[in-house]
Amino acid sequence: MPEGPTPADHKAAARGKAKVAVLISGGGSNMAALLYASRLPDCAYEIVLVASNNPEAGGLALAKAEGVPTFALPHQGMARADHDAAMDAAIRAAGAEYIALAGYMRILTAEFVDKWQGRMLNIHPSLLPKYPGLHTHERALAAGDSHAGCSVHVVTATLDEGPLLGQCAVAVAAGDSAETLAARVLFAEHQLYARCLGAYVARWRDPAWLIAQVRQRALAQPEAEESVSHGMACFGIRGGKKFAYVSANHHGDDRTAVLVKISGVDEQATWIEQDAARYYRPAYFGADWLGVRLDLADTDWATVGDWLAHSWREVAPKRLTTLHDAAEQR
Ligand code: GAR
Repeated sequence: MPEGPTPADHKAAARGKAKVAVLISGGGSNMAALLYASRLPDCAYEIVLVASNNPEAGGLALAKAEGVPTFALPHQGMARADHDAAMDAAIRAAGAEYIALAGYMRILTAEFVDKWQGRMLNIHPSLLPKYPGLHTHERALAAGDSHAGCSVHVVTATLDEGPLLGQCAVAVAAGDSAETLAARVLFAEHQLYARCLGAYVARWRDPAWLIAQVRQRALAQPEAEESVSHGMACFGIRGGKKFAYVSANHHGDDRTAVLVKISGVDEQATWIEQDAARYYRPAYFGADWLGVRLDLADTDWATVGDWLAHSWREVAPKRLTTLHDAAEQR
């Protein structure tokens, strides 16, 4: 086991807070909520730019007053692709790694969405998949819903769709109008967005998220099943041997890693020599297991998939590997 923090630990720590650009069109109250949450201790992100398609957007003055760089470019008279490209250039120049859309009332081009795939979030004032688009509160009231609410999701090519990161329901009160309901939903939005954004940018060090990534790839192996051993999630072949364990702060070692089966002590030594920050000999496991750290902020998930496939092959009976090889060749 490496003594103390390794170079990769230093790298992860030095990475510090994720840099976020917030895009607004209107009042910017969600931007303000994100900004003040970022000023509290331990917030995982900082806001490096507030940008708008509307130079009059109220949030721009607030951002300026708070010392946050701003960028405004009216979209009138510009082709959508050119406007998006100019926004993209400003966002990149600010060093942003993520974008938070906060009442940015522009449809984005597929190119822009593609460039920020998995790194752009949006808040929407409804409990998606209900009521994408506009007039969400009117629609909730007209439908007689008991609850309205808000959702934060990852932005994909389809408007107000994409994986949900969190939702907050808001009760419809007697006598609510669309305006009174919208005002209350905004309170919920302000709580929800900062929480979801903070968790999303820090997901690479969240053991639950890391285990889910391993699970998805381990269960893709033939006849794989999940179980728990000594408190660790582990994956094996049905009725057969285990091929992967996820070690999350095992015996207080403060790291999250996947343990995979390898050919033996020589291979183990080779990997550890090659990258002692990432690979290690797992305590209480034999020399034919290797620890591969997942919490170093730079995990290549395709490589983790390859490790799991390789490990599966190390323990799979011939019956399964033969079948698998035949299927691969077809
Ligand atoms: C918010 O309610 C946000 O959910 C909504 O615009 C409002 C912006 O308020 N966004 C959308 O409808 C996007 N489809 P704010 O400028 O005060 O944050």
